[in-house]
Amino acid sequence: MPIHAREWHLAARPHGEPTPEDFRLVEVEHPDPAEGQVVVRMVAMSVDPYMRGRMRLGPSYAAPWEVGEVMKGGAVGRVVESRSPDVPEGALVLTDAAWRDVAVLDARHVRQLPATGLPLTWSLGVLGMPGLTAYAGLFRVGAFREGDAVFVSGAAGAVGSAVGQFARLRGASAVVGSAGSPEKVAWLREIGFTAAFDYHDGRVRDLLAQAAPDGVDVFFDNVGGEHLDAALGALHVHGRAVICGSISNYNATETVPGPRNFSSLMISKRLAVTGLLVSDHTDLHREFTETVSGWIRSGDLVVRETVYEGLDNAVPAFLDLLKGANTGKMVVRLAPDPD
Ligand SMILES: NC(=O)c1ccc[n+]([C@@H]2O[C@H](COP(=O)([O-])OP(=O)(O)OC[C@H]3O[C@@H](n4cnc5c(N)ncnc54)[C@H](OP(=O)(O)O)[C@@H]3O)[C@@H](O)[C@H]2O)c1
Repeated sequence: MPIHAREWHLAARPHGEPTPEDFRLVEVEHPDPAEGQVVVRMVAMSVDPYMRGRMRLGPSYAAPWEVGEVMKGGAVGRVVESRSPDVPEGALVLTDAAWRDVAVLDARHVRQLPATGLPLTWSLGVLGMPGLTAYAGLFRVGAFREGDAVFVSGAAGAVGSAVGQFARLRGASAVVGSAGSPEKVAWLREIGFTAAFDYHDGRVRDLLAQAAPDGVDVFFDNVGGEHLDAALGALHVHGRAVICGSISNYNATETVPGPRNFSSLMISKRLAVTGLLVSDHTDLHREFTETVSGWIRSGDLVVRETVYEGLDNAVPAFLDLLKGANTGKMVVRLAPDPD
């Protein structure tokens, strides 16, 4: 019996902001699974800022998606048929194969998820790649220490909201966040940021000086551009900047200028500015999962998601993510969580 699936293909490489015309929803038929394969029905798929990078050609840490081919990204699903002794039918799994509702995959390309009693979608967010990014970026790359003052850009997103809360939970002296709306700023204060500002309200340098008049020890950057420029100026001597993302220029069509006075700031303050790639830090996975699950179970960590419903809404979810429609992790639900 052929397996019917619907999947999103890249239709064109965008110039600047992506549009719905850059994507195409295609119906396909897969043959029955071969020996060693499983059929996974997706429960939820992730849309992430890095996917904007996969739409373009050029040097990057992730291979570009091909025009006319299915796109891929993190997803959680349930194995509905198995021809592998390693992955039983009914198993809940994490895959990198979504932007589709059903996939036939080699069993070695899925990771079984333990039953935690927590929502399955959290494996795409706070307990998944964005959570590990926050954990490794703050504690390992940023060398965070108790008593440090921290500034996080993009603070109301999946990574940013985890970074700020992780810093609070490990004894930061101050946690400052920037975000793109008054509602997001109010939410950051609710979840324990000591100060927060809407970057639309003025020059980031001025807003940051008001929010962190004494400066900061660690800057965790999700945004780049003006935020990076301002934050380097606010770092203390021996301050650390973790360069996680630069979403303010993901749709840029021209080369973006670097921070002003970079060399003199680096030298006078002996700054450490370090790039972060989450895949370098998979060795932290167990420690990260245990720590963050503990914070969730004790009620110390607030988890929030923005959920779009249905595969048809995957493209709106992705385009809206790039425009800031999400608070917390943006996910697309394709089916209810299995019991
Ligand atoms: N290096 C790594 O290994 C790694 C891994 C995961 C993620 N990342 C990076 O981490 C960052 C956050 O990722 P995420 O998954 O947590 O996404 P996210 O923060 O949940 O969502 C993206 C957010 O970016 C903000 N944004 C969009 N355009 C902006 C602009 N021009 N200026 C300032 N903010 C803007 C929007 O919030 P506002 O409403 O606040 O504007 C939007 O909600 C991204 O840069 C991503 O590429 C890197």
